[in-house]
Amino acid sequence: MNGKLESLAVNGGAPIRTTPLPGHDRLMGQDEIDALTEVIQSGQLGRHGGTKVKELERAFAERYGVKHAIAVSSGSAADHTAVAMIDPEPGDEIITTPCSDFGTILGILFQNAIPVFADLDPETLCLDPVSVEAKITPRTKAILVVHLFGGLADIDAIKAIGDRHGIPVIEDCAQAQLSEIDGRLAGTIGQIGCFSFNNTKHLNCGEGGMVVTNDDALARRARLFADKAWPRDEDERYSLFLGQNYRMNELEAAVALVGLRRLDENVSDRRRAIERIHEGIGGIDGITIPESMAGARSSYWILHLFVDDGIDPGAVAEALTAEGVPFGARYVTPLYTWPVLRDANTYGTSGFPFDSPYTDRAFDYAPGLCPVFERRRERLILISVDEQWTDEDADDIAAAIRKVMPHFLSGHTRRASM
Ligand SMILES: Cc1ncc(COP(=O)(O)O)c(C=O)c1O
Repeated sequence: MNGKLESLAVNGGAPIRTTPLPGHDRLMGQDEIDALTEVIQSGQLGRHGGTKVKELERAFAERYGVKHAIAVSSGSAADHTAVAMIDPEPGDEIITTPCSDFGTILGILFQNAIPVFADLDPETLCLDPVSVEAKITPRTKAILVVHLFGGLADIDAIKAIGDRHGIPVIEDCAQAQLSEIDGRLAGTIGQIGCFSFNNTKHLNCGEGGMVVTNDDALARRARLFADKAWPRDEDERYSLFLGQNYRMNELEAAVALVGLRRLDENVSDRRRAIERIHEGIGGIDGITIPESMAGARSSYWILHLFVDDGIDPGAVAEALTAEGVPFGARYVTPLYTWPVLRDANTYGTSGFPFDSPYTDRAFDYAPGLCPVFERRRERLILISVDEQWTDEDADDIAAAIRKVMPHFLSGHTRRASM
């Protein structure tokens, strides 16, 4: 069988492509330069003196069909602001996913609450509603869902659980701009939606974020929290509660406004490329295209695939990368295994809020906590998607997968066969 296979680049054969896929450098142009020039010339770089942050908030709220959009300085700041909007007591619990950027978790810890990890759906790698419900206790103050890789979590089921228990749902859409389910946008289904505009995201202004909600009281609290809890509509200057300076500045907003105008096209370009890749790899042995939620349309921040049991995803990713198509394997290790949580490296040596008078139970952050996620990540390969991918780029990605996978089929070797 091996004699018939094309020699892999990882073993010295000719690679599928020698030029890098577009996407390492994000698309930026004259529109951004003009927008930045306008801000510089205005002499107002801060949100309170300028107009761009306010304009971005209005435009974002309009595109998402929500009442309030509050711009902040990062996706982590958005997630932290969302938790602060809920205002948990120290030791209260927030159910979330172990498969995300740590920015999802930061705000929980900084509000002295405790992340409780639920297990994941084996296809979407987003929270499994059954596991979420099993983790609810009288201390649960929120469910923080991540729409991973641009795909949708089972948000309707999770929202229904939240409603039944009186627990608000926060949607972390850092990876899921304009992702939708049955025509409704991710971020508008729970009580609060959070977005990131960091350099890797669909809408990119270097660093930035957004919080959306339809609730007036929550929105007011968000605005205050992200601005040192300074009620600027009052005559006297003071902080109403413990807040942060998470203000976005005018330069970031000016760039984000340009990105927002291109966002729909950006997402449809990603969808077109991924559809083409999916078509190109359909039916290939050894690899599966994950199922998505019924009615869901991903915005494809990342393309993820599962290799068959017994195939080493690291070796597949290495072989694809050598072909000029830079895949990674396994994504993040479960967040509960990271030293910050495993060793409770939080505030000095206190370990707060774990193991403190504010909670009466132990949190066992150890491997094995979320077995579905742990098992599935052993089959996961993934690649960052970019809106600049052409049909030819998509075809190269599919061709690389078609070339590489047969090498992993005979006896399911851990290394690519020569
Ligand atoms: C799901 C998710 N949440 C939160 C964040 C944090 O965003 P930021 O890097 O803008 O702080 C990220 C960043 O990658 C993310 O992917």
